[in-house]
Amino acid sequence: MKEEITRVLEAARSEIKKADSMHEIMQLKSRYIGKKSILNGLMQKLGTLTKEERPAFGKILNEAKVRISELLLQRDQEIKNLKYKKTLKKEVLDLTMPGRKREIGTLHPITKVWHEIEDIFISMGFEVAEGPDIEDEFHNFDALNTPHDHPARDLSDTFYIEDDVLLRTQTSTVQVRVMENHKPPIKIISPGSCYRNENDASHSPMFHQVEALIVDEGVTFADLRDMMNIFVKKMFGENIESRFRPHYFPFTEPSAEMDIICVKCLGKGCNLCRGTGWLELGGAGMVDPNVFDMLGINSEKYTGYAFGLGIDRIAMLKYKIPDMRLLFENDIRFLQQFK
Ligand code: PHE
Repeated sequence: MKEEITRVLEAARSEIKKADSMHEIMQLKSRYIGKKSILNGLMQKLGTLTKEERPAFGKILNEAKVRISELLLQRDQEIKNLKYKKTLKKEVLDLTMPGRKREIGTLHPITKVWHEIEDIFISMGFEVAEGPDIEDEFHNFDALNTPHDHPARDLSDTFYIEDDVLLRTQTSTVQVRVMENHKPPIKIISPGSCYRNENDASHSPMFHQVEALIVDEGVTFADLRDMMNIFVKKMFGENIESRFRPHYFPFTEPSAEMDIICVKCLGKGCNLCRGTGWLELGGAGMVDPNVFDMLGINSEKYTGYAFGLGIDRIAMLKYKIPDMRLLFENDIRFLQQFK
């Protein structure tokens, strides 16, 4: 029996040496030391030996079992190491190779100007309000005192989704939404997208405005004029003057359009300002008492001003961009200049 055990041990040794996969190791394990293994078979035979012989053979058998499991473990480790080395060889890393450069994106010029405008007004105590791009006629026209036959309501100017559902043509809709829900004092700006059926070098069917609204006791036209002046200087520089021209908006009275002195020629007249020396920036005025009355704000007690400026136009002036459409083409060569 002793010889038999030695033979089994030798056979196991040489087979384990040859094994070169984890699968083979598993097979050898069950073959030599598992439940139905050769060694277990010999274990059964112990019963046929005399009482005196049994302990000695039992010991040898156990030692053989321990030895074989050691060999299996050792080979298993070797196989794992070999595999690891092979993988390392296959996946060589050349640390001297130059890296792949990852381009870092930039904020869009409109986003930059948008943030800058917000910062300027927040620093003067305004809160930022938002409203939906998809609106109804009440918020875009009716509550803004716009008569039913006003040309702006026409299909040729306004994108209607269905009857009474449209893409807002102005951020003045947010004035209405704020006044519906808040009592004065009100001091908000509202930047956002607007939509109109027009498309040329200075108009895009989707564009951006920032609305401002102040409602309180004793707000005057002089306050509006002053605020516009402060904004222009903060945005474009101390040397940039602004002016008001009389205008008409249904929801403000009196109304004005605001111009700034041409940022390119500083008033001398050039191609950017078409020789006039001035550039148009947006509309403004004192909130029409009709608007207050419609929204349940006491027009005897309160006055207010509002203005709406084109964010894209401000970006064009600030960065000297000649065509508004460039802002929306998303040409990386163009956008990268605003890093
Ligand atoms: N909403 C007007 C426009 O889009 C601008 C404006 C805003 C005028 C606020 C007066 C007051 O033309």
